[in-house]
Formats: sequence, structure tokens, C-alpha cells
Amino acid sequence: MRDFDGKVAVVTGAASGIGRALAERFARAGMKLGLVDIEAAPLESLADELRAGGTEVLTRRTDVADADQMDALASDVIGTFGAVHVVCNNAGVGSGGPMWELTPADWEFTMRPNLWGVIHGVRVFTRHLLAQNEGHIVNTASMAGLVSVPGLGPYNVTKQGVVALSETLYQELLGMGSKVGVSVLCPGFVNTRIWDAERNRPEHLRNPEPLASAEQVEALRDALKTLIEASMPAERIAEKVLDAIVNKRLYILTHDSTKPALEKRIRCILNDENPTLLEGGFEVFSK
Ligand SMILES: NC(=O)c1ccc[n+]([C@@H]2O[C@H](COP(=O)([O-])OP(=O)(O)OC[C@H]3O[C@@H](n4cnc5c(N)ncnc54)[C@H](O)[C@@H]3O)[C@@H](O)[C@H]2O)c1
Repeated sequence: MRDFDGKVAVVTGAASGIGRALAERFARAGMKLGLVDIEAAPLESLADELRAGGTEVLTRRTDVADADQMDALASDVIGTFGAVHVVCNNAGVGSGGPMWELTPADWEFTMRPNLWGVIHGVRVFTRHLLAQNEGHIVNTASMAGLVSVPGLGPYNVTKQGVVALSETLYQELLGMGSKVGVSVLCPGFVNTRIWDAERNRPEHLRNPEPLASAEQVEALRDALKTLIEASMPAERIAEKVLDAIVNKRLYILTHDSTKPALEKRIRCILNDENPTLLEGGFEVFSK
């Protein structure tokens, strides 16, 4: 897709961070926007800013993990704008801790938006893009979709699922000769509010008791906050996404640190070698 003016983009997780930067970038490209989040106040304030600049915006307080809400979202977007061209399945949360201690609620908290949110986004929108034989789907994974980072078990699992889902979709569309493009966004650390993702945990998925390693998990969160606040601005990620849509690139790797770690993983798999401990810890992914 090269021509964005007057076209329609849907962005999930648009109230903050990468989603917000994508929405602002698409607005500058002249697109109409369907913006989605569970946090209504920051979503509406972004929409007001964009409308003041002349952008047509539809907002929905939608939980991306809820199948019915996602069906309703697709109907609303098509009903309002008549079409959809770019779909960014971006909403997500981060969580961590030793895997053997995590509760079913911890797993579900991460699996719902990060994996089910992308599954539903692909399920409800792809058929519209296929019918018009035009458009692009961008699924937000992470460098954790390509490299397994210790301490981030559920996050790694969901993001590697998003990479697999995106690669499969890409192959399926390629096989049918469709002009619809697919990208999977795999950033290292980006300066957003993801370090505070616990704010997005639904009440029914709160643990009654703190984990035995609560202090360790707290320390992990503090370390992530410091790293993340010094990391790449979300606006740079949005530029790279636009470029990938224009050039129809499947993989969007935004940080130099991802490639050596990925090469090492592949080398181990191909050469029948065991991995060594991730050199430098997850800090390396801030570059
Ligand atoms: N920031 C990073 O370092 C980084 C790195 C790699 C990948 N990512 C991915 O980028 C995506 C965006 O995260 P971010 O870093 O901008 O964080 P963020 O916390 O700033 O933004 C995430 C947004 O998603 C929304 N959200 C969460 N659960 C939702 C749900 N169930 N339904 C609808 N909206 C929901 C939140 O309310 C929030 O507005 C996530 O998928 C994340 O995993 C982030």
C-alpha cells in the first residue's frame, strides 16, 4: 500500500505508547482512524487532538480479547467508514516472574490481549481486506517473539505465537495471490507505559495472594521502567511501520540488538548446540 490519504486505519491499544504514535502517524498521512483501547480517557483525549487537526476518528472502548466486542468493532468501523485498509493489532501487556510460580490468572492476563487480541483482529478484519484485495495487517509482537528472554515467560510465549500467526497468514495470502500485506513488528525496548501494564489487569485476574517472588517481580518491573524510559521513542517505531507497509515487508526489526541474538538462536538450533545464558540480560534489547 502506497497511498494512505483518505484510507482507513484501525489501531488497537491506541491510547498509549506505540499505538498512539501509530495513530498520530496515520493521521498525518491523511487516514481516517478507528481507535481502540480499554482506557477510555486517554483514548478520547487523543481522538479530540486528532479531530482538532482535521482527522475523522471513531473511538471504541473495546477489550481486544473479547470475541463479541471485536465482532462489533469490525461492524462499527465498516458501518462508519465503509472500508478498512490498515489494521494494527497492537494492544498488549507485559508481565513476568519465575514461570513455575505464575498463576493461571497471570498467564491469562498476558495471553488475552497479546495473543487472543491479535487472533480476533485477524479474524474480524482480514475478510474485508481480502474482499477489496487491498490493505495491510500489522501485528505487534516483540524481539521476545524471536528470542526467549528469561523472566518474561508468558510474554515470550504470546509474542512467539504472534510471529507464528503472522508468518502463517503471510503464507496463506501469498498462496492465494492476494495483494493484502502482512507485517509483524518485533521491537526491542520502546519508551512507552508498558512497564506499568499491571494497570490493565482486569479485577477478576488479580491474584488473591502476592507471588512468593513478589519482591523479585517488583525489582524486575523497576529495572524495566528505567530501561524503557531511556529507550527508543515510539514515534520512530511508527515511521518504521509506515515504511514496512509501503514496502510490503513482513518482518519489522527496529533494534540492532535483535539480529545477533536471533542469529545465535538459529545457529544453536541448526548446529545442535545448547544456548548459553543470554549475554548482558534483557538490557541488551534497549539498543
Ligand atoms: N514498549 C516496549 O518496549 C515494547 C517492546 C516490544 C513490543 N511491545 C508491544 O507493543 C504493544 C504496545 O505496547 P506499548 O509498549 O505501547 O505499551 P503501553 O502500555 O504504552 O500501551 C498499550 C496499550 O494497550 C492497551 N490495552 C491493554 N490491554 C488491552 C485490551 N485487553 N484491550 C484493548 N486495549 C488494551 C492499554 O490500555 C494501552 O493503552 C504491546 O503489544 C507490547 O507488547 C512493546
